[in-house]
Amino acid sequence: MSKSEKNRRPSKADKHEAPPIDIGIGTSDRRKIADGLSHFLADSYTLYLMTHNFHWNITGPMFNSLHVMFEGQYTEQWTALDAIAERIRALGARAPGSYTEFAKLSSIDEQPSVEEHDWREMVRQLVVGNEAVCRTARKVLKTADAADDDPTVDLMTQRLNVHEKNAWMLRALLA
Ligand SMILES: [Fe+2]
Repeated sequence: MSKSEKNRRPSKADKHEAPPIDIGIGTSDRRKIADGLSHFLADSYTLYLMTHNFHWNITGPMFNSLHVMFEGQYTEQWTALDAIAERIRALGARAPGSYTEFAKLSSIDEQPSVEEHDWREMVRQLVVGNEAVCRTARKVLKTADAADDDPTVDLMTQRLNVHEKNAWMLRALLA
């Protein structure tokens, strides 16, 4: 910010200054929940990218069915990323948005690249990834529930529904 921009900012006494956040959840609870959501966003982004990567690179007899299945999953996940990041913002925190931050925050270890024809390994990695996202969602859900943060509880419940179902459907392919 330049000096002149700084000078244009309202002073503390300015009656038009944004008031402190007062949504009925204390500052430390909001911070804790937002921190959990940042990890959840990183996990979700990592899984989104893995799923899209496999959509691009799969070859072989399973190409059509898995190319289409992965597309359905990454499209849904892409839309959810926005809701997760915006919940962090509504709680008053900054949403992480770089690969460096996501790599630090994510609980999903990126595996070495998979052979194009090895659809079983792709599916196995996505089962593991979807289940990791579920575990992180459960942690955030607990923290949010303890602070009566219903919108976050609701969001985590929706994401659990999606990722547990994805994990089941992917796992069924390996039976
Ligand atoms: Fe595509």
